[in-house]
Amino acid sequence: MCGIVGYVGPGCASEFLIEGLHRLEYRGYDSAGIAVQNGSEIGVRKRVGRVSELERLLESNPVTGSFGIGHTRWATHGETSDVNSHPHIGGNGEVVIVHNGVIENYAKLRGQLQTLGYVFRTTTDSEIIAHMICHQWYELVKLGHDPELAETCQTAVERALVTFKGTYGIVAMFREAPGVLIAARVGSPLVIGVGRNEYFLASDASPLVGHTDEVVYLSDNEIAVITTESMELHHRDTGRLEPSIQTLQQESSDTDLGDFDHYMLKEIFEQPEAIENCLRGRIDDDSATAMFGGLNLDPMQLRKIDRIVLTACGTSWHAGLVGEYLLEEFARIPTEVEYASELRYRNPPMTESTMVFAITQSGETADTLAALRECKRKGHQTLAICNVVGSTIAREADGGIYLHAGPEIGVASTKAFTSQVTALILLSLYFGRMRHLSYHAGKRMIRQLRDMPDVIRRTLQCHDAVKEVADRYCNYENFLYLGRLYNFPVALEGALKLKEISYIHAEGYPAAEMKHGPIALVDENTPSVFIVPRGGIYPKVMSNLEEIKARRGPVIAIACEGDDQISELADEVIFVPEVEDFLQPLVTSIPLQILSYHIALQRGCNVDRPRNLAKSVTVE
Ligand code: F6R
Repeated sequence: MCGIVGYVGPGCASEFLIEGLHRLEYRGYDSAGIAVQNGSEIGVRKRVGRVSELERLLESNPVTGSFGIGHTRWATHGETSDVNSHPHIGGNGEVVIVHNGVIENYAKLRGQLQTLGYVFRTTTDSEIIAHMICHQWYELVKLGHDPELAETCQTAVERALVTFKGTYGIVAMFREAPGVLIAARVGSPLVIGVGRNEYFLASDASPLVGHTDEVVYLSDNEIAVITTESMELHHRDTGRLEPSIQTLQQESSDTDLGDFDHYMLKEIFEQPEAIENCLRGRIDDDSATAMFGGLNLDPMQLRKIDRIVLTACGTSWHAGLVGEYLLEEFARIPTEVEYASELRYRNPPMTESTMVFAITQSGETADTLAALRECKRKGHQTLAICNVVGSTIAREADGGIYLHAGPEIGVASTKAFTSQVTALILLSLYFGRMRHLSYHAGKRMIRQLRDMPDVIRRTLQCHDAVKEVADRYCNYENFLYLGRLYNFPVALEGALKLKEISYIHAEGYPAAEMKHGPIALVDENTPSVFIVPRGGIYPKVMSNLEEIKARRGPVIAIACEGDDQISELADEVIFVPEVEDFLQPLVTSIPLQILSYHIALQRGCNVDRPRNLAKSVTVE
């Protein structure tokens, strides 16, 4: 949520800032702005809308200089408007800041600052940061501190931070101290790129790709003081720190669109490779099990685990539901899936041997991070299934599994979901083989898993057929998604995909639960997407499908190749390859992703930037 960039060096700041904001636009696109320092002036340009709107503004009203900050906003406090866009100005322009996060006590601080004579121009919580830093800076200058020194700016920020309750990633610049950027974080990510005689700052590493591969991830309660000559790190409690420089492993081609019109479609088609990457190096054929390099627990500790709690949000939560079914079926470990936003405030009983797994693509989701921290605080082993290397959750968990799915840019998660499910299949194989699963059963699972990239390639061939269905059904306003067992989470995920990018109301439900209420919604204007592959309970799901047909509900079925029976019942059938029950989510989720993509396109929606959403939800 909200993207931040910063630059200090000999180059043209606005070039890096704009390019970086484009790469961070997935984090929020309500408005964008930059501030660039030129001599004793800081030029601020900001505009509601996409980064391209800001670029248009800069064409007619440019800013030049080699130090600057930028921001792309996902609004929390205050409507989306030019004035509420970042950067925000403190005092009479002495301080300019960008902020990601929420300052919870902003109303009280605003009152205090107004009493001191500060004039508020916006209705955001972030503006108090600018005024508060400015106020502290004035106080220091009054006491005789040199206004131009980076140290004075740093102390002003430190003093201001003490007054804030909430979360923040902040970067501040000072009119009297050209070339100084002060960055601080609690709860909202910031990463610093170390270049040759230049420094870059961003909310995640994507803007740094192609500029430097040396990065420093800021941790909570750390402050970075960046000048043209150096970068220093300080911790709130322990003082100066030695920065730990890490190597960025991301290529600029990872974030190119290639031949695709949208990131979402590109990422849908990347799923065979994403799954291959997730499996790579993780299969131990001799022992018929999985292996993980980063769990950081020895087999004795792992054997003692008697319960697993999977915690996540959104699509990752749906992957967690698949994980519950897998872990209970193959590893026989009681597993629960908790919404992270609930778990962080709940106090469910957990035994000493309960292991907590956070599932997250970004590794930055505020609720998931808070739930993980709460469980860690209580002494539980916390692990993460995460895509973004070096993200906060990846760093704070005791260990975990990286998905290696490559950057996911489309706001609607696709390849992260199937990669998460793949990681959970491997995990259930691993725990299963430590307990009840036989060598032969392990071997069989491995054989089938290895086939999955090719099976997914075949599944993607349904694209044109799904597009035709999308063209026929794009004008309906309500959809039901129905599936059972492993396909119940897939139904939830299919409904979420449709809602978030096409703004159509959709509900996912266990197919047999329909009779207990939602079947009242069924009529000729409410299509049901039935996930009905051959397998364990195929005849039961078919009976549920008959119940819908009997009430004149149109049915779009996702069924297995060669299923002749389904064509007699369903209005539309999308065929996918047949796989065993536990692998079905990897296959059946794909036509649903394609369906929502094409319905959204037909309705003229921006699939990669759906309204009101942002890719990485770093606020509560
Ligand atoms: C939906 C979607 C979201 C995310 C959720 C959690 O397509 O992308 O529901 O799954 O915000 O995000 P992560 O996985 O980054 O923690």
